[in-house]
Amino acid sequence: MALLTGLIISEDETFRKKAAEILRSGATPITVSYERFAADAQPDLVVVDGRREQSSALATIERLRAAAPALSIFMVAAEASPDAILQSMRAGANEFLIWPPAEAAFHEAVARAAARRDSSPASRARATTAVFFGAKGGAGTTTIAVNSAVELARLSRRPTVIVDLKAGLGEVTLFLGVRSRYSLLDAIDNLHRLDSEFLRELVVRHKSGLEILAGSDHFDRPGPADTGAIEEVFRLLARQYTHIVVDAGSQLTPCATAVMYAADTIYLVPNPDVPSVRNAQRLLDRIGQLGACGERVRVLLNRASEPYPIDPDQIEAALGRPIDHMFRSDYRTVSGALNSGVPLSLTGNSDIASQFATFTRRMLDPNAEPAASPRRGTLGLQRLASIW
Ligand SMILES: Nc1ncnc2c1ncn2[C@@H]1O[C@H](COP(=O)(O)OP(=O)(O)O)[C@@H](O)[C@H]1O
Ligand SMILES: [Mg+2]
Repeated sequence: MALLTGLIISEDETFRKKAAEILRSGATPITVSYERFAADAQPDLVVVDGRREQSSALATIERLRAAAPALSIFMVAAEASPDAILQSMRAGANEFLIWPPAEAAFHEAVARAAARRDSSPASRARATTAVFFGAKGGAGTTTIAVNSAVELARLSRRPTVIVDLKAGLGEVTLFLGVRSRYSLLDAIDNLHRLDSEFLRELVVRHKSGLEILAGSDHFDRPGPADTGAIEEVFRLLARQYTHIVVDAGSQLTPCATAVMYAADTIYLVPNPDVPSVRNAQRLLDRIGQLGACGERVRVLLNRASEPYPIDPDQIEAALGRPIDHMFRSDYRTVSGALNSGVPLSLTGNSDIASQFATFTRRMLDPNAEPAASPRRGTLGLQRLASIW
């Protein structure tokens, strides 16, 4: 499944907010906008508010249908009369929905829109988005995001981009030993002229083939006011790349949340220690409250070597979900790669480099054999039990 882009046409702000919330809370990764899209980023589905001005809504639907035969159009009405349904279908709507909404009906309509989009002959292969999020600062989020992205670019040979979303000072370019003249903020601040060509100028290319949209160099940006623009940037990226990797830092900011809604997979990165596990548990609860994107979360235990401060089995029990992958601790190799600005897979044969190769193969093919689990230790249950 891959990112769907939705547009809501309504004068009523309450409607826009509620409709966006429902669209986002379903199982389909989606970004939602209320504005006109950038020139070359057409929406996959449009929700038209036809509760009050039914005839102008029908005219809008006719225009949309004429311009985009493959578009999914949702007409929303205050009530369902056979006549209204017929008129809406004649104008070109695919779905007729009642307001106030039954969320399940919306979600089913979105799933049909995704299926329609994917089966349309005009549909191109779509991007998949992987968001890496730290259970605490220093857990190794940037390390894992960067090395996975390099491997994705190398193994898939498909256009791959890493976006450094962390507010404050991003570090992705440092890890890769490249300098970038531009950053994500240049994309956000130039939305009016943002198109594929402009975006191509903002990224910098690493010798592995990976492209990088560098992080901010402002302490307080991207901030809450940048959320809509970030969604727009991701819509455009999804048109240009096969794989999008995001280093989202470890703060659940509005921007990080918006990107999670658009993610196919959210990789949560704890270490086997008490602060990580406690934070991870809270973050999983919070992400779960955000809607169905909770089901897209995978746990990556980083710096997991024996003797474990907390046993992985106990971490799984505390989090109520399995650990998807464990990266062993190897400070010398990891920090050596970081300080030289050369990713692990390009620094020679190390165990940790081969762990990234295995992990990335599974990102590309979720049905691939899981890696053999490192042997598990025994400490920590009492300590854990005492903090919950
Ligand atoms: N698997 C690992 N083994 C040993 N050290 C690691 C590992 N992963 C990350 N580190 C080290 O942890 C520190 C923080 O990593 P970083 O990726 O910057 O974390 P974050 O982005 O979560 O703040 C770095 O010094 C890095 O070298
Ligand atoms: Mg980081």
